[in-house]
Amino acid sequence: MFLCVLNYKRLKIIKNIIMERKGLNLTLKVWRQENAKDKGGFKTYQISNISPDCSFLEMLDQLNEQLVDKIEKPVCFDHDCREGICGMCSLFINGRPHGNDAGITTCQLHMRRFKDGDTIWIEPWRSTAFPVIKDLVVDREAFDKIIRAGGYVSVNTGGIPDGNAIPVRKVNADLAMDAASCIGCGACVAACKNASAMLFVSAKVSQFALLPQGKLEAKERVSKMVARMDELGFGNCTNTGACEAECPKEIKISNIARMNRQYYISQFA
Ligand code: SF4
Ligand code: FES
Repeated sequence: MFLCVLNYKRLKIIKNIIMERKGLNLTLKVWRQENAKDKGGFKTYQISNISPDCSFLEMLDQLNEQLVDKIEKPVCFDHDCREGICGMCSLFINGRPHGNDAGITTCQLHMRRFKDGDTIWIEPWRSTAFPVIKDLVVDREAFDKIIRAGGYVSVNTGGIPDGNAIPVRKVNADLAMDAASCIGCGACVAACKNASAMLFVSAKVSQFALLPQGKLEAKERVSKMVARMDELGFGNCTNTGACEAECPKEIKISNIARMNRQYYISQFA
């Protein structure tokens, strides 16, 4: 009798594992838009037998294979590294940039986070400064324009210095490294009700402002980058914290406070 109960429990566990591994059947509501001028709208697709182990982008690949087989236009979406470092895979999934999980990009999101029968809404970033090019692809050149305005060190720093030749406090080195982990994905802009780019710009300002090599041009840099950001139509920061909550690299809004301090110094000192 005891053995029978054991076997029954084991069978139940195996059955549960098989059920969990079963492919997912999903309804996708995907934003389709021919170009920047087109009004665009959601289109519904059914997709079946999606492995819980595949990534969100691999699921979109399968949708596109299905569409191509039916001689329909595939869905355009951006991607490159597919490992969370390039910032290209900018998708609004079920109303949140990069989906529900904290600290990951869309390409790091896995289908095991969804349930069989789920409906998934997939949209591009929404911001005047990021116009839609086609379907889910937006033009994020505005970020490049801000970087070109001052997001660099132009002084000749010579060859690679010996380790510890320029002393940097550990706390500053860590903060600069954290700021430099921004991948320019634009989720902060998409999450913000004001479409503010201040988390992105402040990360780019901070990564230099905290290091000796960046101090020489600090005033000029922050002043030019903030001016360019304003020109390009990004909104202002009203401290809602949505950018920090949705940033896949967990960039802190304390960078915005640092950028504001730097900006005031650049204007008045
Ligand atoms: S601050 Fe975060 S959300 Fe904004 S661009 Fe950088 S990585 Fe993306
Ligand atoms: S594809 Fe590069 S971060 Fe997602």
